[in-house]
Amino acid sequence: MTEISKIGVLTSGGDSPGMNAAIRSLVRSAEFNNFDVVGVQRGFQGLIEGCFEQLEMRSVSNILGNGGTFLRSARSPEFLDKKNRIIAHKQLQQHNMDALVVIGGNGSLTGASVFSHEFNIPVIGIPASIDNDVFGTDYSIGYNTALETIVESVDKIRDTANSHNRLFFIEVMGRKSGNLALNASLASGACFVIIPEKKFELIDLVKRLEDNKKRNKESSIVIVAEGNNYGPSYKIAEDLSKVYSAYESKVTILGHIQRGGKPTSFDRILASQLGMAAIESLKLKKYNTLVGLVNNSLINLPISEVINATNQLSSDLYRLNKIISR
Ligand code: F6P
Repeated sequence: MTEISKIGVLTSGGDSPGMNAAIRSLVRSAEFNNFDVVGVQRGFQGLIEGCFEQLEMRSVSNILGNGGTFLRSARSPEFLDKKNRIIAHKQLQQHNMDALVVIGGNGSLTGASVFSHEFNIPVIGIPASIDNDVFGTDYSIGYNTALETIVESVDKIRDTANSHNRLFFIEVMGRKSGNLALNASLASGACFVIIPEKKFELIDLVKRLEDNKKRNKESSIVIVAEGNNYGPSYKIAEDLSKVYSAYESKVTILGHIQRGGKPTSFDRILASQLGMAAIESLKLKKYNTLVGLVNNSLINLPISEVINATNQLSSDLYRLNKIISR
């Protein structure tokens, strides 16, 4: 591996609020350390197609508080094919990029790891996903903002649920992870949560609702993670109505509203820390690592370890939710 002077940066997979803050910090930290930075548009797809732009201090002005990613993002099935990765590598060589920083979730980090091993390219991963399911960091960029968006929405739905004695199923993102759902449940006072990590059976919900009814609960909120074992929230609501009809049920799917919006201060600061950490990791030759935050300290972990492990849900939070969510 040669000495690094020019770094490519891309955002990949599902965008998340705070990605812009990470790019801004990375570009400014790079300039501070005398590295050049090239922005790759539309993730790995842009790497294959050679969609590049030189970035400097002023290219990243006024983006700190913007959601989404100004480099844009993509899920690139083409990058799964080795012949396209060879093209992507040639693009890096032709544009004299010596290292790559990948900002994204588990799929993007897996792509980064494969690419780095195949072509001996130094890579740094920055965890960014509203799902907060990247192993090795307490937080991924965007999670805090998405959680705030969900809680604000649930608070609003609660006003109408209370006014009508209704049961609301609110479906949130999280294909494989119940992090958003569990924490949203705790922060919004839902009476039940359905998540991918725990097998859900309808009877458990019926029991909870019956119990609540006995205790004079007039309306209820159930948070459903999209990746649960049972199925979409419309199916859960429909199946419930066949066996329990004390409440009128409504379903709200929050969808992509959870991915948008201005990043919270927490996400802006986290992203800024991780952007700087990526540059310092390259400087210290901590290649092929993820930068993350654990117990408020910046850490590096080999990306190969990150992509082969699963982020466990907090059993303490799950227990707490069971005890107090009624
Ligand atoms: O990985 C982040 C995420 O927002 C998941 O929670 C969700 O299942 C998925 O992306 C949706 O992806 P897309 O926007 O490509 O449909």
